Amino acid sequence: MTELRMPKDFLWGSASAAYQIEGAHKEDGKGTSNWDEFVQIPGKTFKETTGEVAVDHYHRYKEDIALMAEMGLKTYRFSIAWTRIFPNGRGEVNESGLEFYQNIIDECLKHGIEPMVTLYHWDLPQALVEEYGGWESEQVIDDYVNYAVVLFDAFKDKVKYWITMNEQNIFTTLGWMTAQHPPGKFDNEKMYYVVNHHAFLAHAKTVLKFKEIIPDGKIGASFAYSPSYAINADPIHAMSKIDFDNLKNFWWMDVYAYGRYPKNTYRYLEKKGVAPTVTAEDAALLEAAAKQIDFMGVNYYQTSVAEYNPLDGVGPYGEMNTSGKKGTGEITGIPGLFKNPSNPHLETTDWDWTIDPMGLRYACKEITSRYNLPIIISENGLGAFDDKTEDNQIHDDYRIAYLNAHVYELMKAVDEGCDVWAYCTWSFTDLLSWLNGYQKRYGFIYVDRDEEGGSLDRYKKDSFYWYKDVIKSDGATI
Ligand code: BG6
Repeated sequence: MTELRMPKDFLWGSASAAYQIEGAHKEDGKGTSNWDEFVQIPGKTFKETTGEVAVDHYHRYKEDIALMAEMGLKTYRFSIAWTRIFPNGRGEVNESGLEFYQNIIDECLKHGIEPMVTLYHWDLPQALVEEYGGWESEQVIDDYVNYAVVLFDAFKDKVKYWITMNEQNIFTTLGWMTAQHPPGKFDNEKMYYVVNHHAFLAHAKTVLKFKEIIPDGKIGASFAYSPSYAINADPIHAMSKIDFDNLKNFWWMDVYAYGRYPKNTYRYLEKKGVAPTVTAEDAALLEAAAKQIDFMGVNYYQTSVAEYNPLDGVGPYGEMNTSGKKGTGEITGIPGLFKNPSNPHLETTDWDWTIDPMGLRYACKEITSRYNLPIIISENGLGAFDDKTEDNQIHDDYRIAYLNAHVYELMKAVDEGCDVWAYCTWSFTDLLSWLNGYQKRYGFIYVDRDEEGGSLDRYKKDSFYWYKDVIKSDGATI
């Protein structure tokens, strides 16, 4: 129990993404996405899992939203599949796609749940990839804005909170550097920065349009933020920490908040010959949009340790733990700058993700000092193996402990002056983890399915009741 309380209007929430929950991959006119294609390549996902059925939210959204209402959820963050709105990325709007999201929004509002919409959570229309290479071409910018404007016009009276991009740093890194996400390119650093630049411009143009169409709405991007700690007080490691933050964090957050790239990193990339070209027009656009964003969206899972990495040290590519077998992930780094060893002071999950509740407060304070922006925690949660007992109970006390510790730190962050509007756990129901199949569970609601299939029935985990009490008490039960 804590003395602290979240404000009455605090948005206690939970989040999801279209590809990971909806299924119905070919229904009602939906087009093919880059992910629909990518998962067909053998070996790309855990046990070849796909989102063709996912957890069938497309057909069960009423049941899922009724469960959210029973829990007392204040906001539900979900993403819209671009391919449901424009099966080929642009052209004629697919009205049944719009209707599906209209229904979700109405269902939320009926239960007093504030819808929070993510425009892009990684599923790009395949038609645009085939036509001009998707994010690799600047043509994507106008198609993205056009798609966003259709949604703003359609939902302007109902949706107040909008997120342009989910984890631009992750989908570009995994897409163009490590080949783990579509388009599956490896070590294409030059294109990686080009693609990011296009995504920044698409975000920026969208923000400006948004302010014309929904002047009272709130918009920002969601960034996968991993704050860092230097391994010790040796200045060489402190320098590595700065280099890490500039290259892995501020490269994105500075553009969203200030409209410019961090100078030292830009210089470093220029010397390597991979810095993106920024025209005067780009710079003006990024800056104008940065002045208009309303919050920094943060997906927080873990912190990193920064340690100096000599020129002959570890490289950026290493084994990633996608099996849940502890200790199978490898340490990576950038030779000459930093490497990211594990933190000896902290525990890890079965997927080798560092568990650091205080890091969430650290993240909030860093953003508050550096950007002075309100914060929406758009994701935070624990991926774990869950067991359903014979009488359909799921005793996920480890998830409760994880979330409880994080919420406590968030309440402290607020108490210490951070302006936090929302906290969305990842996720409400169990869902498909892009690379880790169905066995890595995050939800308050257990979904009876595994890599092979299942009944798709829903069961409340113990954490469901825990969060319900937290919400009801404004956090007093933490
Ligand atoms: C974030 C994504 O990276 O983390 C989600 O926005 C994702 O889509 C979540 O599912 C958890 O990651 P993972 O790899 O455990 O599914």
